[in-house]
Amino acid sequence: MKKIAIIPGDGIGKEVMKASQYVLDYFDLNFDYNDALAGRECFDKTGTTIPEETIKISKKSDATLFGAITSTPGEKSPIVTLRKELETYGNLRPIKSFEGVNCIYDDLDFIIIRENTEGLYSQDEEIIKENEEVIARKIITKKASKRICEFAFKQTIKESRTNVTAAHKSNVLKLTDGIFKESFYEVAKNYPDIETNDFYIDATSLYIVSNPHIFDVIVTENLYGDIISDESAGLVGGLGLAPSGNIGDKNALFEPVHGSAPDIAGRNISNPIAMLLSTSMMLSYLKYDFEAKLIEKACREVLRKGKVLTPDLGGTAKTYELADAVLCNIREIE
Ligand code: NAI
Ligand code: MG
Repeated sequence: MKKIAIIPGDGIGKEVMKASQYVLDYFDLNFDYNDALAGRECFDKTGTTIPEETIKISKKSDATLFGAITSTPGEKSPIVTLRKELETYGNLRPIKSFEGVNCIYDDLDFIIIRENTEGLYSQDEEIIKENEEVIARKIITKKASKRICEFAFKQTIKESRTNVTAAHKSNVLKLTDGIFKESFYEVAKNYPDIETNDFYIDATSLYIVSNPHIFDVIVTENLYGDIISDESAGLVGGLGLAPSGNIGDKNALFEPVHGSAPDIAGRNISNPIAMLLSTSMMLSYLKYDFEAKLIEKACREVLRKGKVLTPDLGGTAKTYELADAVLCNIREIE
């Protein structure tokens, strides 16, 4: 029996997690679900944004489903901590257009692979002079850079893709991003059949908007990956449709790219598709390919029909109505 950790978090994290559970329950997969706390509400209750118990539950699970959290000023980020604790170094973010969705590009299909354990997300900051001067350390190691590039090439082969682009800023950050770029080409030598190139991250951001069809797989460090994945999600219908997987050698955690969206939380109008597609990615990781494909197909079909849409997509449906439309579609096509 597979053990699944469930961390709904805050705000719309809880709403979309309910939608995911609703669809998962239909399949009757006999998973052993274990709920765990993280985030702002958790901090108010327990004094920590990420209790040891949550890390333990997640580590013991075959996979974790994570909703979204609201950040707590002055406290460490629970999701960044979890990714590090679980050593889920590869953050996989597919950017794929949806038929029927009103968006900027309707024919995109590339993936962003973001290094998940270091860079500026090392959360290593120091006050030099109170309110005057502070430092954030950007840590880049050869080991983690080669590991993420290796992950990117393997994923390229797995998905029958052909080109990997490294995005960095080695012209300015000569040491840190220099190591990243160097590692990329070292690893690339082992994959002679895959085309490679690299761009500076600012140029990459431009091309993502002006000429995104040139991309197949983009591999980049932590902060750049965070920024370009929101940017890219904006091209194919927004954050409500963007799923992700955090994958390591022992653990995996799946979550929508979006946050807790306090501006719409509590009204049950959040779009559950990003969470449902993240759930589909989890099922695929756990080798439940049939169920994984069914969920993705049903999400796409409901969007294509365009009858049941949440307000971010121009409709008036509630979170559970869209989730229910997906489930009805699963029943129809199964
Ligand atoms: P956000 O992703 O929560 O929201 C950005 C915008 O997208 C908002 O206008 C929101 O309404 C909309 N949006 C996001 N997801 C949506 C969905 N499923 N359906 C419909 N609309 C959706 O980012 P924001 O506002 O910058 O951050 C809010 C909080 O979330 C902050 O405390 C932030 O630190 C946290 N956050 C947490 C993340 C995580 O848990 N992994 C990731 C990003 C932010
Ligand atoms: Mg982000």
